Amino acid sequence: MTRRRAKVAAVGTYVPERVVTNDDLSLNLDTSDEWIGTRTGIRQRRIAADGQAASDLGAEAARRALKAAQAQPGELDMIITASLSPDMLFPATASLISGLIGAGSPAAFDISAACTGFIYALAAGESFIASGRADKVLVVGAEAVSKMIDWSDRATAVLFGDGAGAVLLEPASGEGEGIIGFDLGNDPAGAAELSLPAGGSRLPASQETVSGRQHFLRMNGREVFRFATRIVSESARRVVEGHGLRMEDVDIFIPHQANIRIIDVAARKLGFEPGKVFSNIERYGNTSCASIPLCLDEAERQGRLRKGDLVLMTGFGAGLSWGSCLARW
Ligand code: UT7
Repeated sequence: MTRRRAKVAAVGTYVPERVVTNDDLSLNLDTSDEWIGTRTGIRQRRIAADGQAASDLGAEAARRALKAAQAQPGELDMIITASLSPDMLFPATASLISGLIGAGSPAAFDISAACTGFIYALAAGESFIASGRADKVLVVGAEAVSKMIDWSDRATAVLFGDGAGAVLLEPASGEGEGIIGFDLGNDPAGAAELSLPAGGSRLPASQETVSGRQHFLRMNGREVFRFATRIVSESARRVVEGHGLRMEDVDIFIPHQANIRIIDVAARKLGFEPGKVFSNIERYGNTSCASIPLCLDEAERQGRLRKGDLVLMTGFGAGLSWGSCLARW
């Protein structure tokens, strides 16, 4: 029996209104627009309002994806949310989003794979559709990372931004369309390089964890950079060649938006001319699980992602984890 294919039927995104530029950050931090721009490609990012959590951003992106698909919240069989800044450890942000959009009682759960989460969540959703256990799955990457940032740490504060993107997965109908396959992996040797140390069962919240600023994201930027510049091209190549295709067949490459230098290195290693590589990091910074769907939405609106195109998406992040997805749009 052939596997039932899943396709992305619609995309919806939402970013908070507040724009914070590099110059704004340099008012309170020893940094500059020049440093941030040349080292990362970021010029500005969106920052969630006080009281605005990941589920609020995710719910708005979800509503927009459903509207684009002309589907009702009550038709969903499942909501999967990927986030490294969930509202709470539990319940799942997906169940909160389900309530906010009035979806009734679909299955709802979260994926924890840091910035790779969106690709892992797509893979989970695709598997439920392929097995016939679900027909309509909403995959949401939702991040209010700004709430997890130590705003006195210039090494991390300048990198991240908030936002959300949702895709509606449905069984594919057209010949050859839909998700072709995935490459997923994780290297636990790098677990300490990027983490939010406290607040879980390893280091429960205490006076010490608060005064030691252990409830904020911590990163060894150089190590993660080294990992990313290796893994993005390796994983991308595996998923393309593993399905009997060539890099030249890819119409558009959408990598996780963490640093323009990582994107440029990967594109060069893979032999992509700049026109095939999509980036909007300049305006949003690193939005973790939201970065790939934010790019999908913009690429489609700009006419750079069209029906029938072969799209390659690659994410990476804490774990250290990685994931690529190849799809015929
Ligand atoms: O999605 C999750 C995955 N995360 C990533 O992919 C991030 C990967 N890492 C990176 O993107 C880069 O490593 C960073 C952008 C984080 C840092 O860039 P870098 O070129 O690796 O800089 P560096 O850490 O080697 O630091 C160079 C210098 C240091 O000063 P010294 O020691 O040379 O005097 C830093 O203290 O830049 C300094 N520095 C800054 N200066 C101004 C670090 N952050 C800043 C800053 N503004 N914001």
